[in-house]
Amino acid sequence: MKVRAAVCSGLHEPWRTEEIDIDEPHAHEVTVTMAYAGMCQSDEHLRTGDISADAETMALFGVTSMFPVIGGHEGAGVVEAVGENVSGLAPGDHVSVAFIPSCGSCHWCATGRQHLCDLGMYTLFGPMISDGTWRHHLGDTPLNRMTQLGTFAEKIVVNEASLVKIDPSSSLRATALISCGVSTGFGSAVDRGKVVPGEIVVVIGAGGVGSGAVQGARLAGASAIVVVDPVESKIERAKAIGATHGATNMVDATFLVAELSQGRMADVVILSPRVLTGDLVAPACAIGSKDARIVATAIAPMAQTSVDLNLFNLSMYNQSLLGTVFGSVSPRVQIPRLIKLYEQGHLMVDELITTEYSLDQVQQGYDDLAAGLNVRGMVDFAL
Ligand SMILES: NC(=O)c1ccc[n+]([C@@H]2O[C@H](COP(=O)([O-])OP(=O)(O)OC[C@H]3O[C@@H](n4cnc5c(N)ncnc54)[C@H](O)[C@@H]3O)[C@@H](O)[C@H]2O)c1
Ligand SMILES: [Zn+2]
Ligand SMILES: [Zn+2]
Repeated sequence: MKVRAAVCSGLHEPWRTEEIDIDEPHAHEVTVTMAYAGMCQSDEHLRTGDISADAETMALFGVTSMFPVIGGHEGAGVVEAVGENVSGLAPGDHVSVAFIPSCGSCHWCATGRQHLCDLGMYTLFGPMISDGTWRHHLGDTPLNRMTQLGTFAEKIVVNEASLVKIDPSSSLRATALISCGVSTGFGSAVDRGKVVPGEIVVVIGAGGVGSGAVQGARLAGASAIVVVDPVESKIERAKAIGATHGATNMVDATFLVAELSQGRMADVVILSPRVLTGDLVAPACAIGSKDARIVATAIAPMAQTSVDLNLFNLSMYNQSLLGTVFGSVSPRVQIPRLIKLYEQGHLMVDELITTEYSLDQVQQGYDDLAAGLNVRGMVDFAL
């Protein structure tokens, strides 16, 4: 079947709409007609090379390049067809995608930590996780898909482990945003940062993920939520969804938090800037209190190993530096939970969607994100 998809052909190349071929779903696979796809920063890391794997790593997976690749890993749509042995999904079902698959049987899934599912190791590139063959083709060239999804395509073929069934009455538009950015930010505050009522929370980077963190902190009862972002308009937008204070740089934020806390500093600090570089960690720890939880949510360049960190203070202040993937909760738990909070009016999602784009405008959407114009751009497949 021929469908249109936004494909990046190599490092620093733009997203271009291509007509591609997709095959029928094999066993354990599902074809989904996409309704909406959110434009998360992680896809840009592919283009910029932040998450480029080296040749030796790719060889382990039987590929020589991460390109060409279909972008997109946030999204929601409707099941069109199912392959053999698919359980729990049928044509017509509404689904959210999940950038970490849940196999249900590996050690991590069996112990309730589906966000750490072993299938996650296959997500950056390579063929289908079902049987190691390719389902998406650009002419004779097999296509990688961002996190085994590639939601910037009219139709996608994915493993059933990458889908979460949702209620047909739920908004597919809101679900698309909840499927990665909102869930990751929310979980960074609530599930990994474990914000409790009365605490002071700092969110560094107020984009799509940071907006989820701000709202997680608000719903957990934080007494102050300080966002740090060099773009003033992001601070204003964050205040509309629950941030109480803002600063455009860490120095101003540190003085502000010192004043708000009478010198005690912030209980939880969430690092959700565009790219996580090593120099951001020391200031994040410095704005934290004794016993603070510092949550590293943003993606760092894959090969980066050096970090600015005052190790003496880390131990003497009893601080915790925590990583998180998907906000440290199973997608099958977090996505329905946040859809419910959205439907009950507690979680603002529509407010985060700054601009909607057609599939042909994916590169425009990422240019607008880089220019600081968007909290989240959204591909609407009806446009
Ligand atoms: N851990 C995970 O599972 C996971 C999941 C999704 C996204 N991510 C990552 O989270 C990060 C944020 O994603 P996003 O989609 O919200 O990106 P985004 O581009 O929407 O937002 C990033 C924000 O950070 C701001 N910023 C840039 N440099 C900054 C700095 N030095 N200090 C403070 N703010 C700064 C930008 O102005 C922007 O508002 C990305 O690195 C993304 O890849 C991680
Ligand atoms: Zn994402
Ligand atoms: Zn698993």
